[in-house]
Amino acid sequence: MSKLSNEILSRKTFAIISHPDAGKTTLTEKLLYFGGAIREAGTVKGRKNSRHATSDWMEIEKQRGISVTSSVMEFLYEGHQVNILDTPGHEDFSEDTYRTLTAADSATMLIDSAKGVEAQTKKLFKVCKMRGIPIFTFINKLDRHGRDPFDLMEEIEELLGIRSYPMNWPIGMGQDFQGIYDRHNKKIEFFNPEDPSQVEVKEVSGPEDPVLADLIDSQLLEQFREEMELLDVAGDPFEQEKIKTGELTPVFFGSAISNFGVQNFLEHFLTMAPAPVGRHSDKGLVDPVNKHFSGFIFKIQANMNPNHRDRIAFLRITSGKYERGMTVNHVRLNKSLRLAQPTQFLAQDRSIVEEAYAGDIIGLFDPGTFRIGDTLVEKDSFSFEEMPHFSPEHFAAISVKDAMKHKSFEKGIHQLTEEGAVQLFQTYNKIPEQQIVGVVGVLQFEVLEYRLKNEYKSEIRLDRLPFSIARWVDGDEKELEVFKKKQRNLALDRDQRIVALFENEFQMNTTRDKYPNLVFSENSYMK
Ligand code: G4P
Repeated sequence: MSKLSNEILSRKTFAIISHPDAGKTTLTEKLLYFGGAIREAGTVKGRKNSRHATSDWMEIEKQRGISVTSSVMEFLYEGHQVNILDTPGHEDFSEDTYRTLTAADSATMLIDSAKGVEAQTKKLFKVCKMRGIPIFTFINKLDRHGRDPFDLMEEIEELLGIRSYPMNWPIGMGQDFQGIYDRHNKKIEFFNPEDPSQVEVKEVSGPEDPVLADLIDSQLLEQFREEMELLDVAGDPFEQEKIKTGELTPVFFGSAISNFGVQNFLEHFLTMAPAPVGRHSDKGLVDPVNKHFSGFIFKIQANMNPNHRDRIAFLRITSGKYERGMTVNHVRLNKSLRLAQPTQFLAQDRSIVEEAYAGDIIGLFDPGTFRIGDTLVEKDSFSFEEMPHFSPEHFAAISVKDAMKHKSFEKGIHQLTEEGAVQLFQTYNKIPEQQIVGVVGVLQFEVLEYRLKNEYKSEIRLDRLPFSIARWVDGDEKELEVFKKKQRNLALDRDQRIVALFENEFQMNTTRDKYPNLVFSENSYMK
């Protein structure tokens, strides 16, 4: 194998999807710790400072500048280059969180064993499902009393529509937590609550191994054996192919805070998770192991500090190798671009990268040249699939307070829309016409107000609207014409596609029933 394919095939680029408080920061810390990227779990903890009340957000953002370091974390583990993409939760939850998932080759879904599948996990899962990427599940906090593992698996299957295969199984839980049984390697990892770092590993012939009677409390052992039997009889079989297509999720149990089950997860994950996969372009599938560099921009982050107006465009390398100083073609602009000095690699420190490979993420200083979804290529000219827009959840009518500032307002809102901070809609068939902004996370309204004021000297009025759902509508032509005439609360997105706004699911479902030949899509992919 050539050095290029070796490098590329050793990469695992994934995102952790979860609801706030499930333990994502904790799990990430432990993973980085295994990889030696941090000396002791704790470095990432600093990021918690970004958990703050909405009101002091601007100040914090100003102080920390562009928080690029938290966007991608990377480490080496047993020959694998692991890239973990950060998916902001809490107050910074936004469309960016969804878009980041388009740069991942697989995802790890983290679930709190006491809470099960929660709202944000569900939303993020849907995006992964849409892309058909492999999804691994880590059920966390086994050191505390949580829900029955079978219950949790049933919930995953029912709420998310994915089958599951437990790779390991907990013996007891909470105060009775004894450890996990690795079904593949037939070994038990014993949990020591006094000192979780002391993990005793015992290889066994299977759950029926008589030696277990001496090691596990008889009641717990009996329960464990019954559960294993049930799994073997009624559970889904292990099918690598279904894991690959995101139809089956391998499930792991553990306790991130005790660093228990994390290494077991990591090792299985690395053997099963895909190396960078090919991406569709308008000229066909682009093979990552191709000697020519290509990539796409999936996120643009502006610096909130007015003294540093730079923006950073995040590029996922999709094929070949990046070398500092190389010249590429910016396909949309049909313009040659030198990726020189300012290019940074988003490692622990913001160091300048000399080379990077398909699967990696690099940050490019952006003087305003990039748009979400832009393709950069070394050779030929092709574009990757359009980056979808996802349904906003909060809407407001937007207008500029001082009509004299109209021009700079328009420029500002246009720029921020390209960055992907907000989505801009125009009311359809409504007089007077009105501009509506939609955001996934409500904090983006504040960002919008702040940035328009500071960067474009435009003070705005935002009047919140009662909608919480947007659907891109397409389908039967005749029915669509009727729909466009009759339906209220329609808008056009910036590409002039028709979007219906709804206040709630009930309203949406009633409309759907009325127009059976129309498709109401959650994102602008229109699939
Ligand atoms: P997040 O990034 O997903 O929001 O979660 P984070 O890691 O911050 O964890 C949320 C809370 O859950 C933290 O407690 C953390 O210590 C706890 N936690 C994470 N993993 C486990 C686990 O395996 N077992 C138990 N029992 N708790 C876990 P906190 O009290 O909110 O914060 P802190 O004071 O511990 O920092």
